[in-house]
Amino acid sequence: MTRNILIVAGDGIGPEVMGEVERVIGWFNDNRKFDAKIENELVGGCCYDAHGVAVTDETVEKAKRADAVMLGAVGGPKWDNVPYEGRPEAGLLRLRKDLELFANLRPALCFAALADASSLKREIVEGLDIMIVRELTGGVYFGEPKEITDLGNGERRGVDTQVYTTSEIRRIAEVAFDLAKKRDNRVMSVEKRNVMKSGVLWYEEVKTLHGEKFSDVKLEHMLADNCAMQLVRNPKQFDVIVTDNLFGDVLSDIASMLTGSLGMLPSASLGAKDASGKACAMYEPVHGSAPDIAGTGAANPIASILSFAMALRYTFELGADADLLEKAVDKVLADGLRTGDIMQPGMKKVGTKEMGDAILAALAKLNG
Ligand code: NAD
Ligand code: IPM
Ligand code: MN
Repeated sequence: MTRNILIVAGDGIGPEVMGEVERVIGWFNDNRKFDAKIENELVGGCCYDAHGVAVTDETVEKAKRADAVMLGAVGGPKWDNVPYEGRPEAGLLRLRKDLELFANLRPALCFAALADASSLKREIVEGLDIMIVRELTGGVYFGEPKEITDLGNGERRGVDTQVYTTSEIRRIAEVAFDLAKKRDNRVMSVEKRNVMKSGVLWYEEVKTLHGEKFSDVKLEHMLADNCAMQLVRNPKQFDVIVTDNLFGDVLSDIASMLTGSLGMLPSASLGAKDASGKACAMYEPVHGSAPDIAGTGAANPIASILSFAMALRYTFELGADADLLEKAVDKVLADGLRTGDIMQPGMKKVGTKEMGDAILAALAKLNG
C-alpha cells in the first residue's frame, strides 16, 4: 500500500528542516517498508511569489487527497507588505480550514538530556510530558466580522470576532478526553469565562460533555492567564490542556520553552473522519520560518522530524516506528549533539544537516 505524503516546505527555515524530514522518510522507506511517495508543493510566501496567492486551489485539493501533509513554516519579512489576503499565513490558515483540521495536538515533552537547556530550573521541567489540545479552525482566527473600518473622523476601527458553537467545543473536548484516557486521565479546560461569553459557553459545554460521556476522566477548569503563569511555575501539574485557537497558540509557545526550545515542539493537526473513514491530517512544527537564522543552516530540524513521528503514530498507525524515531532523537541528544537553539556548555554544536545525519545514524543503530 503506497502512502501519499505531500510536503509543503514553505519559507525561511521551512525548506531547510523539511529537507531532513524527507531524508528520514526515505530511511523509513528503505529500512522499514514504509512505502511513501512524496510530492512537493508551494505554500506561503514562495507560493505568493510564484502564483500571487499563498496557496493554490490545486494544492488544497492535493492536500485533501494526501494521506498526510507535512508543513515546514510560512512567512517572513519579505512579505510584510503584501495584501492581507495574500500574506503567507493565509495559505496555512486556508489549508487548516479547508481540510477541517480542527484538532491541533501539541505535545511538550522534556527529553532527559535537555533538562538543563530550558530557561527554567531542571526540577521544574525534568520528566515533563504535557499535551496541549488546541482548537484550530474556529475562534478569533476565523470569526466574522474581521475588518478594519474607517470611522470617518480620523479614527479607524479594527475588529476580530471570537465565535464558538456547541459542536465546535464538544468535538475538540472529545479529542482531549480521549487522549487523556491513554495518558494520566486528567484534562484542564482553559478559557476566560470571567470576561468572554464564548468562554462561558466553552466552560459549560466541556462540563456538560464530561458529565455525559467522560465522568471517569478528571476534569478541571482554569482561566487562561492563570494557566500561562502555572505553565511557568509548575508545568508538571498538567496532563492534557484543552483550549481555544488563540490561547492554544500562545500557551504552546510558552510550553515550548519548557522543553528547551521552540525548535523542539512538533504538532499534529487532525480532521474528522469522513463517511469512508478518511481523515485529513497535517503535521507541522510549532515554530515559524525563523527569518533571523534562515539560510544559515543552523535551524533545529527536530520539531519537524518529531512531527513526522506524530504522522507515523496518528495517521499511519505505526506506533513502533514512531517510538523508534523518537528514541533516535533521544539518543542523539543524549550523545551531546546540539543545534544553536539548545546549545549547552560542553556539548557539540551542529547544524541542521549534521543533526539530520546523526538522527539517521541513530535510526540505523537502533534498528539493528
Ligand atoms: P519564529 O517561530 O519563526 O521564531 C521565533 C524565534 O525562535 C526566532 O529567534 C527563531 O530563530 C527561533 N526558532 C524558531 N524555530 C527554530 C528552529 N527550528 N531552530 C532554531 N531556532 C528556531 O517566530 P517569529 O519570528 O515570530 O515569526 C516569523 C515568521 O514565521 C512570521 O511570518 C510568522 O507569521 C511565521 N510563523 C509561521 C508559523 C507556521 O508556519 N506554522 C508558525 C509561527 C510563525
Ligand atoms: C502557529 C502559527 C500560526 C498560528 C500562524 C503562522 C498563522 O503561529 O502555527 O502556531 O497562529 O496558528
Ligand atoms: Mn504560533
